[in-house]
Amino acid sequence: MQNKVIIGNQKMNVTAGQTRKFLNVFVPAVEHINYQIGICVPYTSLAVCKRALKDTNVIFGAQNVSEFERGAYTGEVSSEMLADIGCKMTLVGHSERRKYFSEQNSQINNKIKQNLRYNIVSVLCIGESKRERTAGQTQNILCKQLDECLSGLYENELDNIIIAYEPIWAIGTGQTATAKQIEEAVDYIRKEISRLYNDKASKNIIVLYGGSVKPDNVKSFMGIKNLNGFLVGGVSLDAKAFSELIQVYAGKSNKK
Ligand code: 13P
Repeated sequence: MQNKVIIGNQKMNVTAGQTRKFLNVFVPAVEHINYQIGICVPYTSLAVCKRALKDTNVIFGAQNVSEFERGAYTGEVSSEMLADIGCKMTLVGHSERRKYFSEQNSQINNKIKQNLRYNIVSVLCIGESKRERTAGQTQNILCKQLDECLSGLYENELDNIIIAYEPIWAIGTGQTATAKQIEEAVDYIRKEISRLYNDKASKNIIVLYGGSVKPDNVKSFMGIKNLNGFLVGGVSLDAKAFSELIQVYAGKSNKK
């Protein structure tokens, strides 16, 4: 994975037909971008991505994966199945999965371990709620999430992990974290990786920010040191807006 990255998370918002239409516009608009672009789609859109993204610079992924290898787990989709269809990454531990499906750090840790067996990059989402931030608990929350989700992983396995800092209060609210808040969180995440592993691992790990990132505000985050890019929700549903955001980040747009 390159060290400058933008990934879209379309959540449960698109049919396979809508994904096809989206990619018809999106792929040509970003074909000259020379950093890593990815899109995480619903399972039912993966086959469309496999066909449409062959020989392009856009990788695709799922939004979740089973913590189990295989067997009687009705409704689950395994890392092996995702690898088979060409998935290069999956989100794991998104706050919506933690909130609505009670996902625990130990399960997220299992998911990462499954992905590692099949060479799938895990985009590990972590972040605090508004209440936790107000109570001064942000670092404690990030620390616990990192320690438990990365438990038992070796340093070389971090090559297949991306950390996405997504403060819950900034997701889909239009209320972004400030550049200072993001920088503090990213610094803390890297400090924690350094404590768990070492300085080299801390320097090399890819850290993204997610939460109401838009073409209009992405410039204000571009000066954040130690940040490698963004995980984008709502805007990634609109091929034009998402490619505009990607171009702004590449420095190719006139957008102020
Ligand atoms: P928004 O960009 O819509 O705030 O969503 C962020 C997100 O949840 C990405 O995973």
